[in-house]
Amino acid sequence: MHTAGAGQTAGMTDMLPTINPAARPARAQATPLAADQEFSFSAADFDRVRELIYQRAGISLHAGKQAMVYSRLSRRLRETSHLSFADYLQWLQANTGASGDAEWQEFVNCLTTNLTSFFREEHHFHALVDDLKAAAGRNAGKPLRIWCSAASTGEEPYSIAITAVEALGTSAQTRIVASDIDTKVLATAQRGVYDAHARGLSPERLQRHFLRGKGSNAGFMRVKPDLARHVEFRPFNLMSRQWAGSGGLGEPFDIIFCRNVMIYFDASTQRQVLQQMHAVLRPGGLLYVGHSENFTEARDLFHLRGKTIYQRV
Ligand SMILES: C[S@@+](CC[C@H](N)C(=O)[O-])C[C@H]1O[C@@H](n2cnc3c(N)ncnc32)[C@H](O)[C@@H]1O
Repeated sequence: MHTAGAGQTAGMTDMLPTINPAARPARAQATPLAADQEFSFSAADFDRVRELIYQRAGISLHAGKQAMVYSRLSRRLRETSHLSFADYLQWLQANTGASGDAEWQEFVNCLTTNLTSFFREEHHFHALVDDLKAAAGRNAGKPLRIWCSAASTGEEPYSIAITAVEALGTSAQTRIVASDIDTKVLATAQRGVYDAHARGLSPERLQRHFLRGKGSNAGFMRVKPDLARHVEFRPFNLMSRQWAGSGGLGEPFDIIFCRNVMIYFDASTQRQVLQQMHAVLRPGGLLYVGHSENFTEARDLFHLRGKTIYQRV
């Protein structure tokens, strides 16, 4: 199993889903999907995968995702020496203990979509400068707490950290909690090593915040320790029951980034996550969401403050 290193407080298995098991994706026909595949993969197998990833991660896979599921999970079948999806899924569900937990994590890691980049949706980072300054003024020396709740491979939390350093100075007391359900991408995020031509970074930012690799590391860059120290990584499933208390997220946050993950959730799951986010944001705190995510209906919890930026009621 890939881990996100020291400091993590809970694994996926502690984070049982809280979604309504009755709210499941509609069933497809139980017929084979293709004859010429390496592994047998029926419509019933696809349904089972949809149910399991929905229960574990809240992800609603629509009916057109068979080919994606097949290609993403085939590697697991090969690595665990299973000859059909039916056998693999039966084994996965029967498997308990540490090896069962590890395979569930692999299953989830295979089915998440992790697309991200530095300074993605750049307008958010312009707004963030003013929001950070205002929050720092209010907090009067108390550390600012920001949660990047679907951090993927780390470009987003490091973009937040760069913005915080630029807005508030290097000695700013900014703590960024960067979490994701996918332990593999989180390990990449924690490593902080990227292609030196990664999209979204200006030459000035690259020069200031990254070390260029030499020799066998040429073509790569690593986040400087001075920037990395603002970010703490930990696995966290947005379907977790443990948002508060021990194993929870700690002190309330000033700002939450929850971008381009709720698009994978259905409306009731989105509502449940918004309620939890409301509870862990301080009053007046801000929620930044992705460009195609709209929560104007949750006006009892958040009101729209700017382009895809919501304020906690
Ligand atoms: C498309 S990426 C978005 C990354 C980044 N927020 C951005 O906008 O560039 C979605 C991320 O959400 C994570 N994710 C999916 N379901 C999740 C869940 N239930 N809890 C936490 N993270 C989840 C995935 O692992 C993936 O890294």
